[in-house]
Amino acid sequence: MTTFRAFWVEKTESEVSHQIVERSIDDLPEGEVLIRVAFSSVNYKDAMSATGLPGVTKHYPHTPGIDAAGTVVNSTSSDVSAGDEVICVGFDLGMNTPGGYGEYIRVPAKWVTKKPAGLSLRDSMVIGTAGLTAALCVDKLQRMGAAPADGPVLVTGATGGVGSIAVCLLATLGYETIALSGKNDQAALLKSLGADLVIPRVALAESDKRPMLAPEYAHAIDCVGGEILTNVIKRLSPQGSVAICGLVASPVFSATVLPFILRGVNVLGIDSVEIPISLKSQIWQRLADQWQLTKLPLLTSEIQLDGLSAAFEDILAGRVSGRILVRHDPA
Ligand SMILES: NC(=O)c1ccc[n+]([C@@H]2O[C@H](COP(=O)([O-])OP(=O)(O)OC[C@H]3O[C@@H](n4cnc5c(N)ncnc54)[C@H](OP(=O)(O)O)[C@@H]3O)[C@@H](O)[C@H]2O)c1
Repeated sequence: MTTFRAFWVEKTESEVSHQIVERSIDDLPEGEVLIRVAFSSVNYKDAMSATGLPGVTKHYPHTPGIDAAGTVVNSTSSDVSAGDEVICVGFDLGMNTPGGYGEYIRVPAKWVTKKPAGLSLRDSMVIGTAGLTAALCVDKLQRMGAAPADGPVLVTGATGGVGSIAVCLLATLGYETIALSGKNDQAALLKSLGADLVIPRVALAESDKRPMLAPEYAHAIDCVGGEILTNVIKRLSPQGSVAICGLVASPVFSATVLPFILRGVNVLGIDSVEIPISLKSQIWQRLADQWQLTKLPLLTSEIQLDGLSAAFEDILAGRVSGRILVRHDPA
């Protein structure tokens, strides 16, 4: 019986605890594809699951990790075979299905995509759900016609996982990029990722009763929601679009209809979790070739399972810049 190491979260009425345990492959749920996980990553949603916050994981004990990249051990699907290097992100992985913080996962074949050539397993997890989401934001903006000639694109929560890759990708694609960040000491990092201008979070945090304000941004990618999103919508240029993906400030925002009916502003919703694997595969392929991110090393810190608890505290406190890669010991 093969055993493996997994990060284990237990939740009682009064507390949540973490430990690293030995699990058996027989403990994993039924599924078509068994994967030896080489890398995972830390996303905001992982921290929510691991600390017992509502809305992600219903059943404990649990192994989180919404991202996993590794090698197929066995498969009953014709889509992937033993030895294939694969990526599995989103769907129910790490929510109520044991996730990438275990050395093995077993999942349905429709959750799995072959890793494109040109992207290592490690790089795919530096990108992870955060990068896939940033790329989906850019893809949707482009499908609405957003072009570099339109003017500056604002990214909120810019030092976060989604935000930092969004900055990197927009700059790589030639967009003038403005980064909004609460971390005054990270302006140099954001500039090295390609931001043309870094502005402090407080600049967009105040509420203002006016329904529209002078246009400042051609388009935007919003990772935070709340009052900041309210302010972004008021400041979008005519025909501007904002791709909305996150809620770290608040899931609630307010707006009058005026920016929509007087400026033709568009609000674009982004879901990286349940979209079909065919669309995820297309985006992974693009990130492996024409959207290659050469600055990924600048974004990345690396931990193992024993560093996860501290990483969750940092991400929930908004202290993390860039991406945290999780490396499992080689088989
Ligand atoms: N829709 C989807 O499919 C999808 C996929 C992935 C993630 N998400 C969501 O997107 C959001 C970002 O995820 P992530 O993994 O990038 O998280 P993250 O790494 O924690 O980044 C969030 C960033 O937002 C800023 N921030 C933190 N607290 C804030 C506050 N109270 N007010 C304003 N800004 C604040 C910080 O950046 P600065 O210090 O630079 O301001 C922080 O680094 C989360 O809500 C996550 O659940 C959604």
